[in-house]
Amino acid sequence: MRFYLTFDDPQSKARASVLSKKLNIEIFKKPSQQKIKDFSEDYFLTCSKDRLFLKKGLGYNSKPIFSDFDDWSKNYDDNLLKDSTKGLPKNFSCLDLTAGFGKDAFEISKIANCKSMILVEKEAWVFELLVDGIKNTSCSRADDLLKKFKVLNMDGLEFLELKNETFDLVYIDPMFLGVQKSKAKKHMQALRDLSTAVIQKQFLKTSLKFANYRVIVKRHKNMEYLEGIVPNRSVKGKVVRYDIYYTN
Ligand SMILES: C[S@@+](CC[C@H](N)C(=O)[O-])C[C@H]1O[C@@H](n2cnc3c(N)ncnc32)[C@H](O)[C@@H]1O
Repeated sequence: MRFYLTFDDPQSKARASVLSKKLNIEIFKKPSQQKIKDFSEDYFLTCSKDRLFLKKGLGYNSKPIFSDFDDWSKNYDDNLLKDSTKGLPKNFSCLDLTAGFGKDAFEISKIANCKSMILVEKEAWVFELLVDGIKNTSCSRADDLLKKFKVLNMDGLEFLELKNETFDLVYIDPMFLGVQKSKAKKHMQALRDLSTAVIQKQFLKTSLKFANYRVIVKRHKNMEYLEGIVPNRSVKGKVVRYDIYYTN
């Protein structure tokens, strides 16, 4: 599996070249003797006229992967995650330390009581996709919710230590390693395949010090507790489990 930068129209060449340098990802040049199917396991961060997206392989049926806040505002609801936030105070602040594509943070921001949402993502190319997703919404509901967002490209633990500020809710979604590949959705599979960012040993322990009310950790339903710390309660679904740690 390889990772390349590419563009799908001549106007996007310049942007691809800038991003290639910034992210240190090689621009793709297809050797003439190779076939499209030779790249089916590779990922392509692709600049187009309107969007930046990721795709696996070069085939026409390869679906673009990006932060799609318009779609998520209409067609997605994670009631389990919303249940995990019940009881938080009015106008609560949230910090998502492992932002990824921003889908979970966006779910939390749908809760009327959520006032602000800081998203921290360490992996630079994931951060670029997130920023591009935020810039390219067209529906007013998504736009309104995204006003709560502030995004940062840095390590989550470093953020906590540098900022030294507390948040009502701290949210952590570490990668589900050791879970069958075929079960992962394409967004999460791409992060698992490509992200080199890791959650350090003290991630949860440190987060507990910076949460006014609670820390929520997303796990696969069969996974052990993060850092072996037993939560106060868990909300379990068919695939995932939210472990809730009260700090107040
Ligand atoms: C499972 S994904 C999160 C998906 C996210 N909840 C969503 O809804 O799209 C985990 C993310 O955490 C990022 N990450 C891993 N270690 C990190 C760290 N130490 N600091 C900040 N981000 C980190 C990874 O790059 C990856 O994007």
